[in-house]
Amino acid sequence: MIKYSYLLLLTFFSFTLATAQNDIQDNEINKKIDSIVSLLTLEEKVAMCHAQSKFSTKGVERLGIPEIWMSDGPHGVRAEISWDSWDYAGWTNDSITAFPALTCLAASFNPNLSAQFGKSIGEEALYREKDVLLGPGVNIYRTPLNGRNFEYLGEDPYLASKMVVPYIKNVQKNNVAACVKHFALNNQEHWRSTINVEVSDRALHEIYLPAFKAAVQDANVWAIMGAYNKFRGQYTTHHELLTKTILKGDWNFDGVVISDWSSAHNTMEAAVNGLDMEMGTGTDGLGTTTSNHYDYYYLASPFLKAIQNGDIEESVVDDKVRRILRLMFRTTLKPNRGFGSVNTEAHHDVARKVAQEGIVLLKNENNFFPIEDKEGITIAVIGENATRSMTAGGGSSELKPQFEISPLEGIKQRYKKAKIIHAMGYHTGPSVYDNIIPSTLNQDSLRVQAIETAKKADIVLYVGGLNKSHLQDCEGDDRQSYELSYNQEEFISELKAVNQNLGMLLVTGNAVETPWLSNVNGLIQTWYLGSMAGHAIADVVSGDVNPSGKLPFSFPKKLKDNGAHFYGELSYPGDGTNQYYKEDILVGYRWHDTKKIEPEFAFGYGLSYTNFSISDISTDKKKYSLEDTIKVSCSVNNLGNTDGSEVAQVYIGKQKSKVKRALKELKGFKKVTLKKGDSKTININIPINTLAYYNESISDWEVEKGEYTLYIGNASNSITKKIKVRIQ
Ligand code: BGC
Repeated sequence: MIKYSYLLLLTFFSFTLATAQNDIQDNEINKKIDSIVSLLTLEEKVAMCHAQSKFSTKGVERLGIPEIWMSDGPHGVRAEISWDSWDYAGWTNDSITAFPALTCLAASFNPNLSAQFGKSIGEEALYREKDVLLGPGVNIYRTPLNGRNFEYLGEDPYLASKMVVPYIKNVQKNNVAACVKHFALNNQEHWRSTINVEVSDRALHEIYLPAFKAAVQDANVWAIMGAYNKFRGQYTTHHELLTKTILKGDWNFDGVVISDWSSAHNTMEAAVNGLDMEMGTGTDGLGTTTSNHYDYYYLASPFLKAIQNGDIEESVVDDKVRRILRLMFRTTLKPNRGFGSVNTEAHHDVARKVAQEGIVLLKNENNFFPIEDKEGITIAVIGENATRSMTAGGGSSELKPQFEISPLEGIKQRYKKAKIIHAMGYHTGPSVYDNIIPSTLNQDSLRVQAIETAKKADIVLYVGGLNKSHLQDCEGDDRQSYELSYNQEEFISELKAVNQNLGMLLVTGNAVETPWLSNVNGLIQTWYLGSMAGHAIADVVSGDVNPSGKLPFSFPKKLKDNGAHFYGELSYPGDGTNQYYKEDILVGYRWHDTKKIEPEFAFGYGLSYTNFSISDISTDKKKYSLEDTIKVSCSVNNLGNTDGSEVAQVYIGKQKSKVKRALKELKGFKKVTLKKGDSKTININIPINTLAYYNESISDWEVEKGEYTLYIGNASNSITKKIKVRIQ
């Protein structure tokens, strides 16, 4: 007991000491910043607030103030771009590790992996001499059509918050700033530069802002990127409510607000509503070729003139420069900053591990998977996605990996006894094929060839889904239909007709319609997995790794079953000017649950090669006060013959309420790894204040007293036990 209190005391003192030391350091840096600001001319200060090239801002040479260099994010450090155009600069030393897309990371439900992801990508950014990594993205998955969902962390604000914090903290441990994006309400790509989003305060605070708030308050993110769209009539990049009142006011954000590229639209708003650094392509229709076009940026000459005229106070630019200098002291000016590393074995291992844990087994009739490597069998790997590069395309997250193992390559390397044969089946454009260019690009011949190949095989693995082309999983616009394109539905039934032993690897960053589901015996959601894609896929297909990923968003059966689409065009994509988030707080599974619309695959769902049960579920008490924490305890049991991991999930709902409620919301989860036959008791703690809803009449959070129901299970639609508790 004495030892214990001594330890506690020691922890307390070292914590207070560390906090005190941090305060002293902050004070010293603030003093330095003040003295630097006093030495700068107005012109020099303004020059620090906007781009000087596509991905850098000016320093002040005479004072030794460095430039700031940035790079996309969020799945790897992007190849070098030219100074003044979007062309690649053509360097030969800028290839990197491509990590899996963030949807895959979210599907791992493993915050420790998120920390490893952040650490590794941060090391690569440092090696490439970047000060700011433009990611991660936390825009909530509202519609399966959003071309950019693959860059985000799914449909649930709690999951996104839990996953984004370790990513950011570990990027920043490298003295590289993370830049969380796109703040806020950039939930579709279609019309992203102009659309005005109308959404309730509740949905804003309960659904769309929590992951940003966690990034600021729990991860202390050093930069945040504005979004292209408008909200309540004003551009979000320099928004009075979003950037000024909430971000810099209520949340006390002390970092730098960076515009998205050309998302600023107005000097006065940018100046006073908190945009600190304007990046882009050219403004006022001046395009990219006008010389010195950066001078025309809203935070360039017009900003300088407005200060000189007295329309804007100089203290406004001083605040921006202070933040920018603070960012420098955290990154490029940090003593002993280190050099980072790139393409190390450790980074490749992290990429593979995230991929393995994020892959989701969606269907496994008669244990189709895993597929054993046996002499005498032939496996046909069919489909363009078996060989297509998925790090090329997609927009700003496009990567130049040192290598990218395709699904076909990974399977070939893993299967030594079975014979692996391949046919493409269809093509969507020859330029991005990964090494393999078919002898004919005639669609009919490709189809016939694939069917003949499937006939010869004992097992057919169809590798289909979407790709990173425009109007698929790609920045800049949305998908135009919920179905798989390129006639894949028909193709799957043709394959099934010639070979009953058909399984599918679904390569997407989004949900797709699955009317073909009964034609495949097994289905694995493989996401976009980066450098180690094929290895991770082969690990799971072969059973070397037992899948443990869970869906971070719902797969509706029909597009109309999704809340955003239920309300028609005004809700998505809007009328060209405005859109109304009519489903309000009922996003994703909240909609399916509350409206009793069964999804094809539910949020939190994912199968395993073993069977788990969750038992002995209890809470520490039945009645709680507002300051309490609910302690849920349960035993997770691996009942099968294979080691594996399961995610215990706790959802909470309130049936009787004075406000609209989702049936239930995720409030806690834990991933547990268990040897076959083993069990483990785990605890999941839920502080009562996390049950608050946003009360619009007082513009604040409030915990409603009364009865709540806890739902404990292994998916939003697989609940083992319900427990009622009271808050009083
Ligand atoms: C994207 C950002 C990206 C930026 C720089 C924009 O078009 O929306 O996410 O960081 O370009 O490439």
